Amino acid sequence: MMTTLLVMLLYSWLFALATAIRNPIISGWNPDPSVLRVGDSYYVATSSFEYFPSTPIYKSTDLGNWELISHAFADPQSQHLFGVPTGAGSWAPTLSYIDGTFYIACMTRWTYDPVAKVWPRIYFASSVDLVEWSDLTWAEPWGIDPSLFHDPQSKKTYLNLMAPNNNEDRIWGIYQCEISLITGKCIDSYHSLWNGTLTHNINSRPEGPKMFYRLGFYYLMIAEGGTDDLHRTTIARSGSPTGPWEPNPNNPLLFNGAYGYDNLTVQSTGHSTLVETPGGDWYAAFLARRKIKGSSPLGRETFLTPVKWSQEGWPILNNEEPIMLSKSFGPSDVHQHLVPATFHDEFTSSVLHPSWYQLRTPYTSNFALDGHGLTFKPNVYGLSDRDTPAALLRKQKSLNMTFSATLSAIQGLYGPKMTVGISAYLSEFQHQDIGVTGCVNATGLCLYTTLLKNCTALSKQIPLNQTSISGLTLHIRATPLDYQLGYSLHPHLTPTYLATISSSWQAFAPANYLVFEGNSFALFASGGGEPWPYNGHDVGFTEVVETYFEENIPDYDIW
Ligand SMILES: *[C@@H]1O[C@H](CO)[C@@H](O)[C@H](O)[C@H]1NC(C)=O
Ligand SMILES: *[C@@H]1O[C@H](CO)[C@@H](O)[C@H](O)[C@H]1NC(C)=O
Ligand SMILES: *[C@@H]1O[C@H](CO)[C@@H](O)[C@H](O)[C@H]1NC(C)=O
Ligand SMILES: *[C@@H]1O[C@H](CO)[C@@H](O)[C@H](O)[C@H]1NC(C)=O
Repeated sequence: MMTTLLVMLLYSWLFALATAIRNPIISGWNPDPSVLRVGDSYYVATSSFEYFPSTPIYKSTDLGNWELISHAFADPQSQHLFGVPTGAGSWAPTLSYIDGTFYIACMTRWTYDPVAKVWPRIYFASSVDLVEWSDLTWAEPWGIDPSLFHDPQSKKTYLNLMAPNNNEDRIWGIYQCEISLITGKCIDSYHSLWNGTLTHNINSRPEGPKMFYRLGFYYLMIAEGGTDDLHRTTIARSGSPTGPWEPNPNNPLLFNGAYGYDNLTVQSTGHSTLVETPGGDWYAAFLARRKIKGSSPLGRETFLTPVKWSQEGWPILNNEEPIMLSKSFGPSDVHQHLVPATFHDEFTSSVLHPSWYQLRTPYTSNFALDGHGLTFKPNVYGLSDRDTPAALLRKQKSLNMTFSATLSAIQGLYGPKMTVGISAYLSEFQHQDIGVTGCVNATGLCLYTTLLKNCTALSKQIPLNQTSISGLTLHIRATPLDYQLGYSLHPHLTPTYLATISSSWQAFAPANYLVFEGNSFALFASGGGEPWPYNGHDVGFTEVVETYFEENIPDYDIW
């Protein structure tokens, strides 16, 4: 009797955990989500910066489980990410659906060096299936965070964006023009739309404009406060898509920092888009960070929250409460996989799984797939170079996981410049590597680790006492607070860990740079500044396994 009751209690507890939706809905760095529903399917596009292919698109039918289905810019000709530093590249896409065709508007920031005066330009592309995309149409205005809004009343299409007031002061605001989808040119006046709710000066960042229409009102929802802890969502409305705009008296709509709770784990909430279900319920997708002792190794992830409407016709996000990780919401029949299934890739296909990325626009062939594994074609570059090394990266999906990669048999490496290994990678300045190299001052193979702390490299090498090796497996154990780098002589043996680094080293921008991504795991091989020897042996990987564990991340950032 007692046992039955306990089993029932346990069952209902497990059932409660396994149902409804919990945040983040797309884990691993996926900032600036733009959500769109067409029919019974929901789509989210997110920023990808210097990663290629660019601009991932995820699909869901229940808002809780999301699958990566394609990338908007998978053609190297469409993404000119040559030499872009960390944090530059392609930002903040917006999905639209106009007359049966998908559109995506996006921006590429070639560099952010203020001396170079290179400013971001805006483009859009169209698709009927989100897989095959048209060539780019370049829009006339320059700026950031573009979105296309098709007015259901007038059938006119507007480009809304964040842009500077002029080329001297560069005070940013939300701007607009009616645009031709054919030419990308403004076909009516280009004008200032709204400057948001905060003091408008050189430091203001009213950004991410998203426009929608509901019951006679046009709504203009934006992000303000910069993308760090002051980031928030605000809204205004008008009887016309060109304004004038009436700000919501209850702004901000979403702002975890507003509660005085800088002790909350979830911070930087903002950059929202709204979506309506077929049943008339509303949700907001937005970006937020999970703070771990103040820093966020996974960067900004995609979150969701329920939306209600006030009697006065203003949206209310999450009942005006702060966003908490422990809170579930939405339909109770959504079975969300809070701990994802193991990821296992043996590279048996002739094409890569879509979740693998290269850095910047690949212009040489850096790897080959022969059905039995991944073979790198290493070049002169490595992960510290602002170019395209022979490297494949996957976003870190969980704060509690392992990334393990088994090397193809190594027949020999000539000297310490040749390397093949894996890395916890944040930027060209911040990557923590373990791999195999030719030993310094000795023949044979060495294991090595290199930790980069503020561009200072701490390296060590351990002789393997052999000139060839097979079955060697490299491991990164990621926990919320640190990364451990290890190896095992066979895939299934327990790893020996050689180095540990705090996860906070993978979660800040180096001086004078921006880091908008979160941590990824990389496979790489490099000639270390020299061509891979003409008679060098092949290097590569036969298997990658990611195992995820539960993430008991508290609501308050107290560890
Ligand atoms: C978090 O900060 C708020 C505001 O300062 C405070 O009231 C609350 O007690 C803190 N919570 C915890 C768990 O420390
Ligand atoms: C390699 O040999 C050189 C010259 O003897 C020495 O200066 C250097 O410290 C050695 N390096 C290592 C890693 O043993
Ligand atoms: C890293 O270097 C920057 C200056 O370049 C310094 O401000 C910062 O405190 C350093 N961080 C650590 C953890 O040493
Ligand atoms: C990470 O996973 C391990 C293994 O399941 C577990 O013991 C640990 O509590 C988890 N850590 C967190 C922070 O959830």
